[in-house]
Amino acid sequence: MTKTKGKTILTGVKPTGNGMHIGNYFWAVKPIIDISIGNKTYLMLADLHSLTSVHDKETLAQNKKNVLMEYFALLPDDSEIIVFEQSKLARHMDIMWILTSVTPYSLMLRAHSFKDSQAKNADINMAVFNYPILMTADIINFDADLVPVGKDQKQHIEFARDIAENFNRTYNTEFFKLPSDLISEDLWIIPGTDGRKMSKSYGNFIPIFASEKQLKKTIMSIVTDDTPLEAPKNPDTCNVFSLIKLFASDEKQQEIRAKYLAWNYGYGHAKLELLDLILEYFKLPREKYFAFQNDYSLIEKRLQEGNKIAGDIISKKYLDIIHLVGL
Ligand code: TRP
Repeated sequence: MTKTKGKTILTGVKPTGNGMHIGNYFWAVKPIIDISIGNKTYLMLADLHSLTSVHDKETLAQNKKNVLMEYFALLPDDSEIIVFEQSKLARHMDIMWILTSVTPYSLMLRAHSFKDSQAKNADINMAVFNYPILMTADIINFDADLVPVGKDQKQHIEFARDIAENFNRTYNTEFFKLPSDLISEDLWIIPGTDGRKMSKSYGNFIPIFASEKQLKKTIMSIVTDDTPLEAPKNPDTCNVFSLIKLFASDEKQQEIRAKYLAWNYGYGHAKLELLDLILEYFKLPREKYFAFQNDYSLIEKRLQEGNKIAGDIISKKYLDIIHLVGL
């Protein structure tokens, strides 16, 4: 995946309430940072998509701020990733309307996201129904070749291809590029504190930007077996060791492995070692995040730059598309 060069990459993140966790980082953030080297990379804050479910003004604003602080904290200072807000793109939704006009109702009825929400709620709003068309606009307006997403988003990328193809066929053009998904999730096994896959919905996650005290408390709660302190332990079946492997150098891993196999090394020791590794790994991002919390204006300049670059792309796209459809 990191060998890809000269492509356009775009991904979107919805601002949610919970802070970012280690699984999010290795599954979603690190792959983008890695692939951005040598490829034009856009990271969109999909705040319009949040309106499908968040209708409290303060909550939405706070969630947005938090996600932006997290991403700007995690991106290396010299990163060329263009970060921007979906809602700041003038004409983005005008193009979405044009796409809506070439999207069959029958296709939309097949969307998993819609069917799932419909199964859960008696009444859902039209934004939930149209969600995949907005996401299509996000992707194809930027001529993205590749869209890094989690497995659950695979169908949305298929929709983006279908809708782009419909447009191209309808207007006899090759205007929109057909995107492909890039799914990296399975490369990493990351257990949560209860041993199941780390996930917000299980509440078993290790947050990146929590206080040191909170982080320690979470790490100390990781489930292990009941091998007594003095007895040797198997690192390969231990949740703590699986997590250690994400952060420790090969040499350090060997060292800890040897301690597991020897006597008198307890899970508590391993957990403290994990805590240190995590604090060291995220030292700079954590410092940056706490600095942003004190002074949000630190990220505003970069965000505005991103909004400008992305906005200009959409304005140009809009002029071309109205010409193509005869508006
Ligand atoms: N639907 C995506 C999610 O829930 C977020 C998203 C919005 C997105 N627009 C996008 C992802 C464009 C990739 C490309 O995670």
